[in-house]
Amino acid sequence: SQAGHLFVTKKELAKHNKIDDIWLSIRGRVYNVTEYIPFHPGGPEELMRAAGIDATSLFDQVHPWVNYEQILQKCLVGKLVSVEPNVNT
Ligand code: HEM
Repeated sequence: SQAGHLFVTKKELAKHNKIDDIWLSIRGRVYNVTEYIPFHPGGPEELMRAAGIDATSLFDQVHPWVNYEQILQKCLVGKLVSVEPNVNT
């Protein structure tokens, strides 16, 4: 299985912004947090603010001490990659 080893673009990440399909990124890792929603102590609405985006700053503003890498171990999709066009070529 490719779970945890996919390369995900920001465009792909942005597609997963629904309550029944939430991906978010923290520090370059992309997580499918759909299954985690009911367990989030901050509630589903807070997680929805981070749906489909790089949520690093939102996460750090609220609870930088939370060990998300452990909590979301089984939710790891892969790495966030940027595929911006190269303006020099
Ligand atoms: C609380 C986990 C993302 C907003 C918490 C707590 C945990 C947690 C463990 C309890 C922390 C404590 O009491 O010390 C996570 C994980 C996240 C995540 C694993 C990654 C998917 C976010 C994001 C936001 C957010 C992106 C904001 C946009 C909150 C808020 C609380 C909270 C407001 C406080 C709830 C309260 O004490 O009433 N979260 N969180 N969380 N989280 Fe998150």
